[in-house]
Amino acid sequence: MKRVVVKAPGKLMLLGEHAVIYGYPCLVTAVNKYLTVILEEKDGESDLLITPQATNQTFIKTALTLFREVYPSKKRYIIQTESELGVYGLGSSGATVVAVITALAKIQEVKLTQEELFKLCYKAVLRVQKTGSGFDVAASIYGGIIYFDGKTKKSEVVTQDTLPIIVGYTGTKADTVTIVNQVRTYYKQRRKETEHIFAEIALCTKKAKIAIREKNWLTLGNLMNKNHALLRTLHVSTPRLDTLVKVALAAGAEGAKLSGAGGGDCMIALVSSEKRSAVVEAIKQNGGEVVNCQTSAQGVCVL
Ligand code: PMV
Repeated sequence: MKRVVVKAPGKLMLLGEHAVIYGYPCLVTAVNKYLTVILEEKDGESDLLITPQATNQTFIKTALTLFREVYPSKKRYIIQTESELGVYGLGSSGATVVAVITALAKIQEVKLTQEELFKLCYKAVLRVQKTGSGFDVAASIYGGIIYFDGKTKKSEVVTQDTLPIIVGYTGTKADTVTIVNQVRTYYKQRRKETEHIFAEIALCTKKAKIAIREKNWLTLGNLMNKNHALLRTLHVSTPRLDTLVKVALAAGAEGAKLSGAGGGDCMIALVSSEKRSAVVEAIKQNGGEVVNCQTSAQGVCVL
């Protein structure tokens, strides 16, 4: 019986969240925390899913169904997942879909380009969530820091170097789909104002891409701060996120902002090595949990 093991990384949004849903670009990174899928052929009529850390198997089931629609096969599988991504909102749904589809392609000897893999995975995510830009899937496939175009869905790897960030978890799980829908309502009510905010966010993102390439942390930090202020005007931040951003800056971070949809989950701070321990302390002292993860060049891989 054939067996395949695939590892897909989680992600963190760096800049451009929400605006990316409306066709603007975002900057996203893969992180050095992984979702592993072990796929094994089995006899019988049905698949067996073993997901000790996840009660919701919808993403796996949808990835399987979609793959079989495109590449029909009577083979049945044991699909086992192991996650290092925890509860932090590091993109476990996207990483799960990427790992499952990569494993299925490998075991069924289907050759997929990265673009084809992206299209299939993004379709699976949309089938479940109904909304989403696909940035999480792109990060998990390509690895590194990616400039993701919300309109064309094309990914450009900006760098594979590590970005000196600290990730602080608020302790509250965010519901991305609910917040995306809240922003959509706000957008419908105040179209002109919201479009202006998105355009400003896009400008920060474009400038940040250059700053990252040039390792210009002062500029990148300022752009992160500006992006956080713009997200606040969309009402997606929370008092806890704002506090963690504020204390990180006071402790010497070059910049800080919420990361992802908002409403909870994580904030990120850009921090030089001399200030790292002060910023870590400040986040902990103010009720945040410092998440042990880094940006990573590693995209999905078959082991
Ligand atoms: O909450 P997260 O980390 O999944 O990020 C959501 C980012 C959004 O731009 C709000 C949604 C999306 O799919 O791009």
